[in-house]
Amino acid sequence: MASSDRGQFSSRFGFIMAAAGSAVGLGNVWGFPTQTASNGGAAFLLIYLLMMALLAFPMLVAELTIGRYGQSNPIGSLRKIWTNNRLLAVLFGTTAMLTASMILSFYAILAGWLIGFGVSPIMKLIGLQSLSEWLITFGTGRNVLLTVIFMLMTVFVVRRGVADGIEKWSSRLMPVLFALFLVLIIYIFTQHGAMDGLKMYLVPNWEHVNGGLVVNAMGQAFFSLSLGVGAMMVYGSYLSKDVNIPKTAGQVAIIDTGVAFFAGLLILPAMFVAKANGVQIFSETGELISSGNLVFTVLPSLFDSMGLVGEIVGVAFFALMVIAALTSSIAMLEVPVSCLQEEMKIKREKSAIILGLVILVFSVLIAANFDTLFDWVATASTMYMQPLLGVVWAIVIGWVWSRNALLKEIQQGYPEIEKTWFWRIWPIYVKVVCPIAIIMVFAYPFL
Ligand code: TRP
Repeated sequence: MASSDRGQFSSRFGFIMAAAGSAVGLGNVWGFPTQTASNGGAAFLLIYLLMMALLAFPMLVAELTIGRYGQSNPIGSLRKIWTNNRLLAVLFGTTAMLTASMILSFYAILAGWLIGFGVSPIMKLIGLQSLSEWLITFGTGRNVLLTVIFMLMTVFVVRRGVADGIEKWSSRLMPVLFALFLVLIIYIFTQHGAMDGLKMYLVPNWEHVNGGLVVNAMGQAFFSLSLGVGAMMVYGSYLSKDVNIPKTAGQVAIIDTGVAFFAGLLILPAMFVAKANGVQIFSETGELISSGNLVFTVLPSLFDSMGLVGEIVGVAFFALMVIAALTSSIAMLEVPVSCLQEEMKIKREKSAIILGLVILVFSVLIAANFDTLFDWVATASTMYMQPLLGVVWAIVIGWVWSRNALLKEIQQGYPEIEKTWFWRIWPIYVKVVCPIAIIMVFAYPFL
């Protein structure tokens, strides 16, 4: 397919919103605050920031650069660089595509629950009490229905293409997300107990720091920037050649980290407000209760304890979560869609619908066998596949691609790069430090 037939982001702002939309997701508004709360607050925050800057950001530049050079889906882009070993290019490109699909298949279930929690208070207000209850009660019927709804939303955006779908919706939704965040944070700080949460968030408790915490922070940073699965590669391929990749990647990483930081500023104080309202959040031994359920138990009981205002705040909070999830899920679906579209020459609309359906079938399977499948799929795709594929991209950039071709690609949007400290450090860094660091993340569970 000629590159002019491919979509392209229409502006740098649009790209930043889309890429930040991909990065900002449940990992930021749920994963990060939960990890922070259970890992010593500020201590985790500081190490996370370090990992973001030292490991995730360089890899983001790497993935975007591979994609922009290739001007193709991840399989096609890798093939252009790995000219002497096309088989490996196809193998790893396909693995990335399958991993993105796997992540989407469990992510859609979580996002479905969030829709349920957002709609439930509205149903209660209009008198549909039992529907309201059903929406927030774990059950296969509910899980499946809500997953179908979320998947339809994802397909709806992706089938419209890059500028008219992904860029347009990300540019609309991300500002709404920022605004909702601000309103919620201001509100929570007017509540009794919020300051205790702030203290935990910003005053480090160094007792918690150990190797496992460092590894968790690395994994979290990697997940948060959507690295490994080709999502940033495919977004990079829709980026015009005059864009300065390191600078733009820096802005995306800053927005992503900023949103995670603000999510902590919302959730940790909210936990302590809940505590002040009589909701139990710590066990007798001082451990955070059901850290995974924070969002679905602690916060809803907080909203419940605040009457009508609480219902409204609850709807706003879950709307925020659904928006964050949707701008990420469209990036996940775009990976296989771009592959099918370009490798098999199937039109985008058709590709989006077919793949949406296929992934939905897997989601339904997971939802129907939740206890056996959910954790397995989530762990395999995010804890193992994402970092492992990251190692492959680092090797592609550092060892397969010639340094000169790499320089030429980045130079197009950043002519003076050769003289910068970034160029002195980054190539060797991605070549050696990143793969070793990522392998440490990957190997940790086996140690
Ligand atoms: N970054 C997303 C979040 O924080 C999750 C994510 C992981 C992702 N891998 C991805 C999003 C690939 C898009 C594509 O929730």
